[in-house]
Amino acid sequence: MSERLGAAILGTGDVSGEHIRAYQRNPYTEVRAILSRSRERAEAKAREYGLTNCRAYTDLDALLADPDIHLVSICTPHHLHVEQGVACAQAGKHVLIEKPIAIELEGLRRLDRAIREYNVRSVVSFVLRWNPLFQVIRSILSQGLLGDLYYGEVDYLHGITKQYSVYPWMSRREYGGTALLAAGCHAVDALRWFVQREAVEVFGYANFSRGNPLEYEYEPNSVILIRFEDGVMGKVATSIEYMAPYTFPIVLMGNRGVIRDNRLFTHAWPGQTGWATIPTILPDSGAVTHHPFQAEIDHFVDCVRNGVESHCNVADAVKTHEICLAGEISKQEGRPVKLPLA
Ligand SMILES: NC(=O)c1ccc[n+]([C@@H]2O[C@H](COP(=O)([O-])OP(=O)(O)OC[C@H]3O[C@@H](n4cnc5c(N)ncnc54)[C@H](OP(=O)(O)O)[C@@H]3O)[C@@H](O)[C@H]2O)c1
Repeated sequence: MSERLGAAILGTGDVSGEHIRAYQRNPYTEVRAILSRSRERAEAKAREYGLTNCRAYTDLDALLADPDIHLVSICTPHHLHVEQGVACAQAGKHVLIEKPIAIELEGLRRLDRAIREYNVRSVVSFVLRWNPLFQVIRSILSQGLLGDLYYGEVDYLHGITKQYSVYPWMSRREYGGTALLAAGCHAVDALRWFVQREAVEVFGYANFSRGNPLEYEYEPNSVILIRFEDGVMGKVATSIEYMAPYTFPIVLMGNRGVIRDNRLFTHAWPGQTGWATIPTILPDSGAVTHHPFQAEIDHFVDCVRNGVESHCNVADAVKTHEICLAGEISKQEGRPVKLPLA
């Protein structure tokens, strides 16, 4: 394929600029459309990024009718992802969908069916899969330096305060979903990516801190326990009212060694007397400019150009989202919830 692929961006908010920049830097793509509720905002976004061959749309169907658009990045609030994703698939456009892809089960299933039925490539924006520490950890695991895993925990601790652009809508249940779906899903996905096993059961709790200072409509704090195949245990804590700098701690324990973020202790190296620290880039910032969107979008473009499925497609992301949804059911009903969800 020699011609450039046309990319469209839905939404003009915080994360959309990172998608635009990454398509601009990819040699095979050009940003040709931006969708906004306001034509002026879409035009202003195109100007801001120096896009000279880019149309502003306010109507998704009109955008999707454009034959010069092949790829769509969905960068709108969560509650729009299913409808927009299904419409893109029906129009034969490949999709990169921001997380969470759905905030209830029916929508999750509907989107999954549409992606399969219309046979489009998809990537879900669990962008940390391209973080360098994640690559280091996957390499350590594949070299057997931890042996067989028996426990893993990954937490998402990030105060998403009223200063954030997402706050006005994300703090409402109808648009945000739950803390796990809105934010903690990154940690759930990371744990799945490291453990490489199916989750079979989830138990969850969630709470408001006293006074609910950020006025979230749903509990901004939660913890879930996950049982994976082979009895491997996992834990994910989420706090979007976290009163400290962004933290994304990772702990993996195996019968041969332990990883704590970028520190490794392994019995594969006789004579090791303390933690070995691996210099790398940690997932230690909530700023979208710090996230590896370039690598994610290069991967999406490669999948489309080569007709291959992503490891991070909608079908895979369904499993991460089911864990999040199960955490909420468990919290409501006070019981462990079996996976996959019925
Ligand atoms: N993967 C990651 O690490 C990561 C990082 C950040 C965000 N995200 C995800 O990306 C999505 C967008 O996040 P963001 O930070 O870009 O949010 P944002 O700054 O609030 O932008 C969302 C955009 O969506 C459009 N929109 C359409 N309908 C809307 C409505 N009813 N209310 C508000 N905006 C509406 C708006 O553009 P117009 O006003 O022009 O229509 C708005 O600028 C979210 O799902 C979020 O979870 C993911």
